Amino acid sequence: MYRMGQPEIDAVARVIRTGAPFRYKEGQLSECERFERRYAQYLGVKHVALTASGTLALRAALVGVGVGPGDEVLVPACTYMATALAVLAVGAIPVVVDVDESITLDPKAFEKAIGPRTKAVIPVHMWGLPCDMKAIMRIAKKHKTLVVEDACQAVGGGYEGRKLGSIGHVGAFSFNYYKNICCGEGGAVVANDDVVMWRAQCVNECCRFYWDGRDPAKDIFASDGARASEFEGAILNAQLDRLDPMIRAMRRQKMRILRETEATGLRPICANSLEHECGTHVMYILPTSEAAAEFRRLTGGVIAAQTGRHVYAEWDPVLQHKGAHHPALNPYLMKENRNCRMNYSLDMCARSLDILGRTVMLRTHPDHKAADVTAQIRKIREAAKAAL
Ligand SMILES: Cc1ncc(COP(=O)(O)O)c(C=O)c1O
Repeated sequence: MYRMGQPEIDAVARVIRTGAPFRYKEGQLSECERFERRYAQYLGVKHVALTASGTLALRAALVGVGVGPGDEVLVPACTYMATALAVLAVGAIPVVVDVDESITLDPKAFEKAIGPRTKAVIPVHMWGLPCDMKAIMRIAKKHKTLVVEDACQAVGGGYEGRKLGSIGHVGAFSFNYYKNICCGEGGAVVANDDVVMWRAQCVNECCRFYWDGRDPAKDIFASDGARASEFEGAILNAQLDRLDPMIRAMRRQKMRILRETEATGLRPICANSLEHECGTHVMYILPTSEAAAEFRRLTGGVIAAQTGRHVYAEWDPVLQHKGAHHPALNPYLMKENRNCRMNYSLDMCARSLDILGRTVMLRTHPDHKAADVTAQIRKIREAAKAAL
């Protein structure tokens, strides 16, 4: 979250004054519906459905495209654990795949990892960095693999002019505290296909037909629900107004920092679509982990492998095969999954660990002034001299 203030306070107050913070409003456009329409237009997709979180949006997305027991889903070695947990939540098995020097899914590793049980892949646009979507979509088409974009960390970002989350078969977003726009907790699932969206909606809100009306043409199944409230919808409408100017400011800062540190000998991570990414971080890959530690110390940055929560080696329930609270619901024990690959080890993606262990991330911020960026650049230059 970057900015929150009077417009959000006013938006919440408006909802409180109605006395009805419920997202369904007879004969009236609710805040949630208004956001869903606006965000769909923003992304250039047909459907958007708000959910209670990004994790639930991912789960709805996977169900939307028909993933379930017996399926493997490829996930990158660098992502928040929720990406892999959403796969388990629908009864499928996550298979972990290397990232490359873009810190996102390596298309070559993705293609190599496709096996007879692979049904889908989840490219994750980590830290607002777009995956190589052209290569990923080409490989996915060749192997008939479904693409579920995890754009939870990439709200407002794009790839070659298209919005992240709108390129695959289905996409998921998070609006939690750490994301580019925020409503406390929340998420959204997005798709162009009507059936995919109906199935996703059914996960999100099985009771929806009580409010929208029954439709015998639509397949109904039980779910536990992840409906968003009007408070979330109202805050997100205010947040969406802020999004583009914030992203533009951060992108501009990133471009300036990259340009003005070019002569230092520092190597930035590979960019898949520099002009369109969120610009929330500037990242350099140092030659050794020792150099990275020194550069991090002098700049106040963070080593990508050391955030404490974005590397597969930290996914305890996955590594321990604890896929559910009850053995009968644990995908790792289901007979449908017996031919899925689930032999995990701490070094199964050693290349990713090496890259992430040498990558230092520095934050931009929409409120940074030109003088702040100048100071940041000076620090980076001095740290490069000492660390390289
Ligand atoms: C890449 C990624 N995927 C999924 C999620 C899950 O989102 P939420 O915390 O809203 O459930 C997050 C949240 O941090 C994330 O960073």
